[in-house]
Amino acid sequence: MMHAFERFGLLINDRIVRTPVGIASMAGIVDASYVLERAGNIGFAFIGGYSIDAPTMAAARSLSAGSDRKEFLYENPVQELKTQIAKMEESNVILGINLRGSSPESFRSLAKAIGDSVIYEIDAHCRQPAMVAAGCGEYYLKNPGGLVDAVRALKEEGVTVSVKFRVGVTGDDRELAVALWKAGADILHVDLMDAGSAKLRQIRNSCPLMIIANNSITTFDRMREMLSHGADLVSLARQSDERTLAGLDAAITRFADEEGWYNAPKQLCRGGDIRALTFCCMPVKECPLIPTLARIGMPRDDYIRMKLESVQGTPLEQGSQTCFGSLAWCCKISSPCMFRNMTLKQAGISAKEYMHLKRELSETIMSRVFP
Ligand SMILES: Cc1cc2nc3c(=O)[nH]c(=O)nc-3n(C[C@H](O)[C@H](O)[C@H](O)COP(=O)(O)O)c2cc1C
Ligand code: SF4
Ligand code: SF4
Repeated sequence: MMHAFERFGLLINDRIVRTPVGIASMAGIVDASYVLERAGNIGFAFIGGYSIDAPTMAAARSLSAGSDRKEFLYENPVQELKTQIAKMEESNVILGINLRGSSPESFRSLAKAIGDSVIYEIDAHCRQPAMVAAGCGEYYLKNPGGLVDAVRALKEEGVTVSVKFRVGVTGDDRELAVALWKAGADILHVDLMDAGSAKLRQIRNSCPLMIIANNSITTFDRMREMLSHGADLVSLARQSDERTLAGLDAAITRFADEEGWYNAPKQLCRGGDIRALTFCCMPVKECPLIPTLARIGMPRDDYIRMKLESVQGTPLEQGSQTCFGSLAWCCKISSPCMFRNMTLKQAGISAKEYMHLKRELSETIMSRVFP
């Protein structure tokens, strides 16, 4: 497992995520057995959605009655979830439970009963009228105050929290992301619908949370597009068959081993997200760096100081033959440059290690931009 950490650097719930490919919940379908059948090809999975209180359990019953819509139905949600979680005990898949709850107290009491071994994912996604009327799913996107309260209740119990939502439903997805970050959420599980990577980049540029991109991510090209615009992981629901998952897992593993940073952003001037500041040079010309600094409220001198301080004592500090005297300012390895490459060669730093170091620099930058 240590190798997986060196490769992807992903930790959730203090556990190493083997691969950034996972399964998103489908009510009545994705349970522990479904996940275990695919466990060899995924790093994480959200089982559910499970209704956890009287109003949402009644909604689940009404949804499945007289239709072919599947729901998980039971008398006792705690018992059912404990049974499912126990089945996953021997697996190294990081487990999340997708939950429909209508009040902060419902989430709190579930967390008290189940503990911190799983990710608690609030379903702010479901748009079935009965669920929305019960006060969960998309209800939360129209009433973000209730969602924030639910996140806070879970965080008071010390558990890891994800929020699953569809973009374009709430007033402003960026404001929602900031509110969830401030409330203590750990993960945003974002159904991008057909909004594309520009929407993902907006959310990435609003908060430092871990992001799982979702919706029709069934090819390596689409997965790469998401990872290079701010996603840390991707999830699949409808096409979470073994063949698709295995293909994505193998392709991203190979890519990470070759490139050193599996979700490296594009450069800022090529549409990259805020993490791309790691590749930006000194602000000496009119280019997208200037408006980006203005947007995050960082004066030019603070930006220069931040980058220089962040590489102090690291191999990126050197680079007297490069444009600005330090590899801190140097471009992505895919931009050809003999000065940077000469410096790397003299310092014995491989292209892959260079990208690894740039990733560490981007993490420092993110922690400064979003203190
Ligand atoms: C049958 C079905 C049931 C679903 N149930 C849930 C659910 O309970 N909770 C949830 O957050 N999302 C649910 N979803 C949404 C999926 O997790 C996912 O966001 C959506 O299908 C888009 O991803 P995909 O293109 O990989 O399928 C469901 C989707 C389907 C098709
Ligand atoms: S500083 Fe360099 S890399 Fe960054 S946006 Fe400007 S030209 Fe592009
Ligand atoms: S030396 Fe090369 S890689 Fe570094 S900033 Fe200049 S052009 Fe970019």
